[in-house]
Amino acid sequence: MVTHPEIPRHIAIIMDGNGRWAKERGLPRLEGHRVGAESVQEVLEASIQLGVEYLTLYAFSSENWRRPATEVSALMGLLNRFLENKAKELDRQNVRLIAIGQVDRLPEKTRVLIERIEARTANHTTLTLVLALSYGGREEIVEAARSLASDAAAGNISASDIDAELFASRLQTSGIPDPDLLIRTSGEMRVSNFLLWQISYAEIVIVKKYWPDFRHGDLLDSVEEYKRRHRRFGSL
Ligand code: FPP
Repeated sequence: MVTHPEIPRHIAIIMDGNGRWAKERGLPRLEGHRVGAESVQEVLEASIQLGVEYLTLYAFSSENWRRPATEVSALMGLLNRFLENKAKELDRQNVRLIAIGQVDRLPEKTRVLIERIEARTANHTTLTLVLALSYGGREEIVEAARSLASDAAAGNISASDIDAELFASRLQTSGIPDPDLLIRTSGEMRVSNFLLWQISYAEIVIVKKYWPDFRHGDLLDSVEEYKRRHRRFGSL
C-alpha cells in the first residue's frame, strides 16, 4: 500500500473528557466511557481508510489505577468487550494489535485476551493499533534505563555505547516510528505522561470536543490541520 506523504504515518491520541461529557448530560461517568469506546471504533475505521499505519490510543494510564474501583473495573470491562468483539474484525481487516504499558498489572482476563489477539494478528500489515494500558511515559523510560544499566553492569555494553537509538530500542515502542501527530481531546493542553520520549517532534493538535463526541470527521479535520502545518513548513 502506498501511503500519501501528507498523511501522518503514526497518530497518537489522548482520549480525554469522557467523564465531563457524561456529567454535562447528567449521566454516570461510565456512560461517557461506553460512548467513548464507540469513538474508538470510528477513529480506527477512519485511520484505516486514510492509510495511517500506526494508531496509538491512551486507553488507561498508570495514574488511572487511583480512580474508584468501580470505575477501574468498568473500564476493564469495556476493554474486554472491545477486545472480544473486535478480535475477528481486526484479523479480517489485517490490523495488528499491540499493547504497551505495565500489562502484567491488568486483570488476568484482559491479559489473556490481549495475548491471544497479539499472537493472532502479529503478521498483519494494514495498520498497527497500539493500546497504551497501565501506561506511563516516565515508567517506560525508567525501565529502559534500568535495562541498559544492567547490560552495562554485566559488561555487555559500555556507557559510551548508549545513544538515542540504543535507548529507543529499549522502549516498548521499539520498532514503531515516532508519532507524527498527537491529538488530545477536551481542550486540555497537557501531555499527561504519554509517550514522553516518542512525541519529541510530533505536531500537537488540541481539539475542544470531549472524546465521546470525537468521530470520523474530527479525525479528518485533525489530519487536515496537520497537513496545513506541513505545507507551511514546506514553503519556508
Ligand atoms: C479519559 O476521560 C478517558 C479515559 C481515562 C479512558 C479512555 C477509555 C475509553 C475511551 C473506553 C475504552 C477503551 C477502548 C480502547 C475500547 P476521563 O474519564 O479522564 O474524563 P474527564 O477528564 O472528563 O473526567
